[in-house]
Amino acid sequence: MRVTKAIIPAAGLGTRVLPATKAMPKEMLPIVDKPAIQYIVEEAVAAGIRDILIITGRNKQIIEDHFDRAPELETALSRPGKEKALEECLGIAGMANIFFVRQKQTLGLGHAVLMAKPFTGDEPFVVMYGDDVILGEDPVAGQLIRAYEAYGRAAVGIKEVPKADLQKYCSMKAAPIRDNHYFIDDMIEKPAPGQEFSNFSILGRCLLTPEIYTILERTAPGAGGEIQLTDAMAELARAKGVTGVDFTGKRYDMGNKLGVMQAQVETALRHPEIGPAFREYLRELSKTL
Ligand code: UTP
Repeated sequence: MRVTKAIIPAAGLGTRVLPATKAMPKEMLPIVDKPAIQYIVEEAVAAGIRDILIITGRNKQIIEDHFDRAPELETALSRPGKEKALEECLGIAGMANIFFVRQKQTLGLGHAVLMAKPFTGDEPFVVMYGDDVILGEDPVAGQLIRAYEAYGRAAVGIKEVPKADLQKYCSMKAAPIRDNHYFIDDMIEKPAPGQEFSNFSILGRCLLTPEIYTILERTAPGAGGEIQLTDAMAELARAKGVTGVDFTGKRYDMGNKLGVMQAQVETALRHPEIGPAFREYLRELSKTL
């Protein structure tokens, strides 16, 4: 079955980026001149996805506004010299079919994914974590879709992380298939020292098949008292196996302050408008460090 849908869970409280996230969702934090979530929608569109469900919560209305038309702004930009900005604003509103649903309580990523059941029905779908921006030539969503087409089962984007960091993430029991593909038949969320399977962790993207919902519906709260998507994916992995894709692309974690600054600096250096001037500024600044 062709994959045409993606969901972006964006209902988390973002407590690690407070106070910026007190009234503004972390998914709207800008990376130079675009909010993080726009990069994620662009990745989905580049992978051929047209229908996107964003899972939001209270205080998240500006995400909806960002992907809507903005008539007053468009009128103001309909003047000579503003063509590029106008085109950009119209482009955002027309990028994809974007749907919204609210997760009424932040009970965890697994619970957020459950909100997508009426949207995805019996189709496979890509989950794009709303605070993980991954930049590269080949959209990770597309890399997962190709793995699904090759093996006909769920797929997760994985990367090796330093062993000391594994307890913040999850750990995969992974055996090589070929190239950057692995067969995963178990995983553990936030492993205590000694519980790790490998240094491979899921980072930011997965492609799930609809049987995940049946599992999620009976998944009890796990680490942190939240309904963990990893716990449900672990059950799927043990039952059927999932494919791990050691993806290409640079991931920025917009859920913590250092990640936000790394995304800003590296994107600014590549930015066509400010890149050269910013590079010069950084060079000068670095002499004083
Ligand atoms: P995180 O665990 O990083 O988000 O979830 P958080 O809860 O906002 O983080 P902190 O610890 O308070 O800083 C990863 C993704 O899942 C979404 C988040 O919005 C983020 O994009 N999420 C998380 C939900 O949609 N619902 C939830 O209940 C939890």
